[in-house]
Amino acid sequence: MRRFRRLRASDSLRRLVRETKISKSDLIYPIFVAEGEKIKKSVDSMPEIYQYSVDMLDEELERIYNSGISGLLIFGIPKHKDETASSAYDDNGVTQQAIRRIKKLYPQLIVIADVCLCEYTSHGHCGVVRDGKILNDETLPLLSKMAVSLAESGADIIAPSDMMDGRVSALREALDANGFPDIPILSYSAKFASGYYSPFRDAAESAPCFGDRRTYQMDCANGREALREIADDIEEGADMVMVKPALAYLDVLSAARNQFGLPIAAYNVSGEYSMVKAAAQLGWIDEKRIVVENLTAIKRAGADIIITYHALDAAKWLEEEE
Ligand code: PBG
Ligand code: ZN
Repeated sequence: MRRFRRLRASDSLRRLVRETKISKSDLIYPIFVAEGEKIKKSVDSMPEIYQYSVDMLDEELERIYNSGISGLLIFGIPKHKDETASSAYDDNGVTQQAIRRIKKLYPQLIVIADVCLCEYTSHGHCGVVRDGKILNDETLPLLSKMAVSLAESGADIIAPSDMMDGRVSALREALDANGFPDIPILSYSAKFASGYYSPFRDAAESAPCFGDRRTYQMDCANGREALREIADDIEEGADMVMVKPALAYLDVLSAARNQFGLPIAAYNVSGEYSMVKAAAQLGWIDEKRIVVENLTAIKRAGADIIITYHALDAAKWLEEEE
């Protein structure tokens, strides 16, 4: 008889034949940096996640660095928002200042800079708005200016999350022309219009004040289109691509893994995090077990890089298991 159970008989055997192992170096932790001073503000819908001002960041950075994960994804929250997102490409903007601080203290920590206008526009949309429409081509130069400014501040990787068409080639051209031919682009290629982002919009104060993002982010029903988006971003020069959210889109991740050879990131987004935290707080699930299972599923489906708010806890738990 075929006895599959032979190799499940002990913890040592199970470890020996385990197919998928997450490592701390796979993990990226998102952080929110708010303009101002002495800010450590909790995010109601995301337990244990805070906005920090740059002057309050050091302790958090030490914690991130000591955890042994690869790096962080940075989101800035400016005081001043306007129609053209001018704080996004202000060389003294909050995101730029935060990046300089991080790279000064921990040059080894990888800083991925999210490039999108929604935290910086008065209306909260990811692009330039005219007559209630989100304009594609008019947005590209602003994203380009933002990317160059973030690269100048020391960002290691530029990650456009806006979902305008043609942005990867626009950013590649701008980075090359401004002396950053070696800065890689991680494109949020398959980014779906998702209900799982709502806690993030509290954290980043970036909810759109009219309409929604369905004219630029993808319809959650479209798997084949996601692969076309990814193929197109690769053609435009993306060095890495992303699928976002992660858990409800593991089929897309797996298909992308089978079709493309470049590194693929998955974003285990805010709503996925908050659902786990809420159920754990109620005592309905075992948080550690669920987090390790979720992250393993994301890796098993094909992610090389996992962006997750659980990163610091997961790093600790993975260490305990080694
Ligand atoms: C901004 C951006 C969003 C997220 C990352 N970058 C939100 C959005 O598109 O509304 C979501 C991240 C998360 O939910 O954790 N374009
Ligand atoms: Zn946006």
